[in-house]
Amino acid sequence: MIEPIADTEVNLDQLKKIIDEYSKQKWPLIPLVQRIQNEFGYIPPQAIPVLAQALKLFPSQVQGVISFYEQLYTRPRGKKIVRVCRGTACHVRGGKTILKLVKQNLGIEEGETTPDMEYTLETVACIGVCALAPNLVIGDRVFGNMNPKKVDHLMKNRDK
Ligand code: FES
Repeated sequence: MIEPIADTEVNLDQLKKIIDEYSKQKWPLIPLVQRIQNEFGYIPPQAIPVLAQALKLFPSQVQGVISFYEQLYTRPRGKKIVRVCRGTACHVRGGKTILKLVKQNLGIEEGETTPDMEYTLETVACIGVCALAPNLVIGDRVFGNMNPKKVDHLMKNRDK
């Protein structure tokens, strides 16, 4: 089973410097959290009270905005994102099995990151290449017509 990812240290000076850059904007929360995510790779939980205080908001308001957007992450993510398609076309052509095999190979569940911080596993509704179903994506590369043998080969050679 996956080991929990240790809380990473967050450079609060760096965080405050970023917040200062946005202090003159009228509605800075969204661009600010995007910038923080770009800088740290995710939005560290320690950033939420600091952001709330700087923007004169409640921490729950900041948290609410962050959790509303799927593209904002509150946990560190792996260097490579593995996305398995769960759309209808992929589902009917064996997507569930593909997901199960990827989980087994990486040793993680959906939404989790490998302890070495190399891979994060996600699912997506459709990646727009249904004709190649079932599909998975590693980074920005699409792998179509997946089957158990191809998944096995791909996962064994993923670091090459
Ligand atoms: S359903 Fe998987 S690519 Fe469209």
